[in-house]
Amino acid sequence: MSFEPQIDANRANWDERVDGHLLAYDVDGFVADPTRLSSVVRADLDTIRPHLPHSSPAGLSLVHLQCHVGLDTLSWARLGAHVTGVDFSPKSVAAATDIARRAQLRGRFVESSIDHAAELLGEQFDVVYTGIGALPWLPDLDRWARTIVDLLRPGGIFFIRDSHPILNALDYDRTDDELVLRHPYFATGTPIRYDHGTTYADPDINLGHATTYEWPHSLAEILGSLLAAGLSVIAFDEHRTIPWPALPHLVRTPRGFVLPSGDERLPLTFSLTARKH
Ligand SMILES: C[S@@+](CC[C@H](N)C(=O)[O-])C[C@H]1O[C@@H](n2cnc3c(N)ncnc32)[C@H](O)[C@@H]1O
Repeated sequence: MSFEPQIDANRANWDERVDGHLLAYDVDGFVADPTRLSSVVRADLDTIRPHLPHSSPAGLSLVHLQCHVGLDTLSWARLGAHVTGVDFSPKSVAAATDIARRAQLRGRFVESSIDHAAELLGEQFDVVYTGIGALPWLPDLDRWARTIVDLLRPGGIFFIRDSHPILNALDYDRTDDELVLRHPYFATGTPIRYDHGTTYADPDINLGHATTYEWPHSLAEILGSLLAAGLSVIAFDEHRTIPWPALPHLVRTPRGFVLPSGDERLPLTFSLTARKH
């Protein structure tokens, strides 16, 4: 099934977020400090490191799917990787290209939907990296997983850390500490429509392109798509922190956002590492 109108609405929404995100993500600070890495990459490095040759990303080729304005992608460049970022939002790709230029970092940013990334890039990488709000935007995970396999060289590593599917099913509008299921956990074949008109990075931003569409994917669907595409899962975990305020009452800590109490009740994110043989 084609979801072109919904994908177009999502692209317009992401394009519109870019200007606000450049401020909210402190891009000027990232450019000015050549030692700065995004907090996402700092955390993921520890998880990925044991699976990398020589325990280091230096010299590896890495493609970052759904890279947005590229701060995570360029953090991998600062660690010595040869990076390519892919995103379907032309404004994100333009912003990422400009940040690379200003920070004097080598990075290539390519405008593409995930579905067409493998044929467009036409090469294979040591690492495929993604996450942090990526999967709910994709209608078809089987196609996503095949793209990952096509982009990986034999022996290459895939890594994702993303919102936990059960978190995505919760009632986002509750401001008390009750965790209430509101949306489907399992895929239904149709997207959920949201009309939030703002962005997690700055709730004061009002977006003209307010309507977005997200697709629920269960944990079994995520794992199943990667296994069916031929990847071997080598590490999997569930976490009590998340890098963005995915629910209004989450509390910011140095480790990321957490539930204000009882963090044993709910995983906020999952991480998964897989290898192509
Ligand atoms: C939440 S962001 C990813 C987080 C990113 N690491 C950051 O630093 O903000 C989601 C990204 O997915 C992109 N996106 C959404 N649907 C896509 C699709 N079908 N193909 C490619 N990119 C897509 C959006 O343009 C956006 O940049």
